[in-house]
Amino acid sequence: ASTLGAAAAEKGRYFGAAVAANHLGESTYVSTLNREFTSVTAENEMKWDALEPNRNSFQFATADRIASHARGQGMKLRGHTLVWHSQLPGWVQNLQTNDLRSAMNNHINQVMAHYRGQIDSWDVVNEAFEDGSSGARRNSVFQQRLGNGWIEEAFRTARQADPNAKLCYNDYNTDNWSHAKTQAVYAMVRDFTSRGVPIDCVGFQAHFNSGNPVPSNYHTTLQNFADLGVDVQITELDIAGSGQQQAEQYRGITQACLAVSRCNGITVWGIPDHYSWRSGDTPLLFDRNYNKKAAYTAVLEAL
Ligand code: XIL
Repeated sequence: ASTLGAAAAEKGRYFGAAVAANHLGESTYVSTLNREFTSVTAENEMKWDALEPNRNSFQFATADRIASHARGQGMKLRGHTLVWHSQLPGWVQNLQTNDLRSAMNNHINQVMAHYRGQIDSWDVVNEAFEDGSSGARRNSVFQQRLGNGWIEEAFRTARQADPNAKLCYNDYNTDNWSHAKTQAVYAMVRDFTSRGVPIDCVGFQAHFNSGNPVPSNYHTTLQNFADLGVDVQITELDIAGSGQQQAEQYRGITQACLAVSRCNGITVWGIPDHYSWRSGDTPLLFDRNYNKKAAYTAVLEAL
């Protein structure tokens, strides 16, 4: 096949991109998106601050433009993200325990109801663990006020709100099997599956750079999670660098996903380099003129 989406489809996978609504009027951006990708994630538009900037006042219009573009093109849509400590409006951060609990559950219920039937997989909880060697939960407002049970509660609420969406836990720096953070997330997923807490997938953000290189045990990590009985997805892939060195890392990631039958697909975190959130880097598959980079060719060859 001659596009990322078609090549991935031949392997039973999707190939997605993060999309920003403010670029949907740009012809080359849209033609590249439509030609190459079979799944879309809203880069910012489905985050809490965007959808519910004031309590119980929901603003779906911008996110809906992305959803409707995806639907019109027959693309899958990943929901990103329901509960996250970042891009969280100030009003949430100031709530006390009971209020925070009801605000969290209301946010999940309202947003999932709005998009019911349209979302393939939801990132129910994003980035709930600390970096480093502690393996601890991140000290977020949710952790502080609601205690350890908050992640489980979010997933239980999400299952009821849209029983047909896959429910994912999503995080970064969980790629290297020997890292404490990877082990901590693994222990949580194992606990959830053993107790019947609803979880269907684990998202690996996969933001790589020289300080966080693609680990040689990446395939092991994906396979070990999949062996718990959940799907795995590469959800926000970008790799700092350029040229053949970057290309080979992209190739390795693609091969690792294809080697794990429960790896559903890969999403890159943007389309051309100059729209990447990592300004100054060139971490994506297309250059600023939408030319295919060596990294693109490596991914297409690996698919
Ligand atoms: C980033 C966006 O790409 C930026 O535009 C925004 O300013 C900050 O968030 N982990 C995530 C994504 O889960 O939502 C983040 O996206 C990148 C890190």
